[in-house]
Amino acid sequence: MGILDKHKILETNATLLLAGSLLVVTVGGIVEIAPLFYLENTIEEVEGVRPYSPLELAGRDIYLREGCYVCHSQMIRPMRDEVERYGHYSLAAESMYDHPFQWGSKRTGPDLARVGGRYSDDWHIQHLRDPQSVVPESVMPKYAFLEDKLIDGEYIEDLLKTHKFVGVPYTDQMIEAAYEDFHTQIDPWADTDGLLERYPGAQVRNFDGNPGISEADALIAYMQMLGTLVDFSTFEPDPNR
Ligand code: HEC
Repeated sequence: MGILDKHKILETNATLLLAGSLLVVTVGGIVEIAPLFYLENTIEEVEGVRPYSPLELAGRDIYLREGCYVCHSQMIRPMRDEVERYGHYSLAAESMYDHPFQWGSKRTGPDLARVGGRYSDDWHIQHLRDPQSVVPESVMPKYAFLEDKLIDGEYIEDLLKTHKFVGVPYTDQMIEAAYEDFHTQIDPWADTDGLLERYPGAQVRNFDGNPGISEADALIAYMQMLGTLVDFSTFEPDPNR
């Protein structure tokens, strides 16, 4: 009796075949999925990547709330056309503190993974107010209301705590200072030592040029830091990881 004949037993018995398939899929699934739970092994640590500052995190929340991800991805693929247009391909580490991640496959507008520093704050304000005034053929909606809506960071500690809960390494000190850091980042006259120590490279200025912290301030702080944390003039991928 050859092996194929034995296989016939499986093929002619639906229940047995079902049980057999289930077993194979389970084993295969475990082998593929289980190692991914040890995420430390799959994400290469990269110098410069840090958790979002409180203001950036608040801006990121507004980005999610407004559904910007419906039209914009944040993942540059390692293909020549993408790298030439957007810059260095995205590293896994660059979205390791993103909950939820913003990779996406839908690009009605351009990828935003490295939009930080590409435009001035004024450009962003003008573009959010009226995208068609800077890019006449744009189909992006207007978000002028973001400038008028002031926020004071009332819930910023809770927001950091929530991200800590899902694995972002915010320290107790970061959470304690969250409210202060939130206000410091917008104030060019403030003492920024603590903020910059906790969030190296955080950009400190009044993003929308108006008094108070508006939703536009937070959103622009977020966009201006996207893709700027890793210094690609010194970064070298480690082929052994
Ligand atoms: C309906 C789809 C759509 C939505 C929603 C949308 N955008 Fe856009 N966005 C576009 C398109 C199309 C462009 C390209 C034309 C332009 O610059 O306006 C664009 C361009 C941009 C650019 C310039 C990118 C570059 O590299 O030139 C930024 C920044 C941007 N969008 C941010 C946002 C933010 C922030 C939100 C959410 C508040 C948002 N977009 C929501 C469609 C959208």
